[in-house]
Amino acid sequence: MATEVTEYKQQAAQRAVNYVKNDMVIGLGHGSTAHFALLEIASRIREGRLKNILVVPCSLEVERQAQQRGIPLTTLNEHPALDLTIDGADEIDPDLNLIKGGGGALLREKIVAQASRREIIIADTSKLSPRLGTRWALPVEVVPFGLRPEIQFIQSLGAQVTLRKNADGTLFKTDQGNYILDCHFGPMKDPATIAHLLEKRAAVVEHGLFIGIATDVIVAGPEGIQHLRRKTGARSTTESPE
Ligand code: A5P
Repeated sequence: MATEVTEYKQQAAQRAVNYVKNDMVIGLGHGSTAHFALLEIASRIREGRLKNILVVPCSLEVERQAQQRGIPLTTLNEHPALDLTIDGADEIDPDLNLIKGGGGALLREKIVAQASRREIIIADTSKLSPRLGTRWALPVEVVPFGLRPEIQFIQSLGAQVTLRKNADGTLFKTDQGNYILDCHFGPMKDPATIAHLLEKRAAVVEHGLFIGIATDVIVAGPEGIQHLRRKTGARSTTESPE
């Protein structure tokens, strides 16, 4: 079973990399599925099938992995608008809204996604869910200074809150040096309202609800590969005031 899931992740990643063309500047997400996209990109560069691409990594770990494999890197400050990003997800609802942050990289992943004209999410079919929160707790990145008040606030919204720890029992810290609260809301009737309430809190740096961000979801499973597309198509990376 584990081997099959690994194969599905790889299949979804390879399909997504077909959308990466020469001369593109792309974002690359964190996690085991996105890692297959990184390996595929590295191999196409090595074989001369992909030329002159630049990558913005969504975490320090992805940066390190990409460097080791000879993938040319850049930053959002050099390239503030990206052609596309390939990233994984923890949970995907029928409207292509997501929970992300299982790997703790949700802040950089959301920054990179918002800078991308196209956000291609890759996953195996176990990530599909009728409602966000059914299968996964919502990760929320919190500044250490405000940890306790934010735990209390999120509990008041009805969630069971766990402070994320590493396997050795030490506190998990994000690339920014913040903590992650894993917030078990159960199936969410209105994720947009939860997102809005969290965004009003000063110590909440970011949360893992990605609403209206994914343009494409490529999922692989026993039935083959499915490519789901957001009806509105490519995203704008800027906004005009009304
Ligand atoms: C990283 O912070 C997350 O947003 C990942 O995209 C997510 O956890 C998916 O990881 P896997 O591909 O390992 O399931």
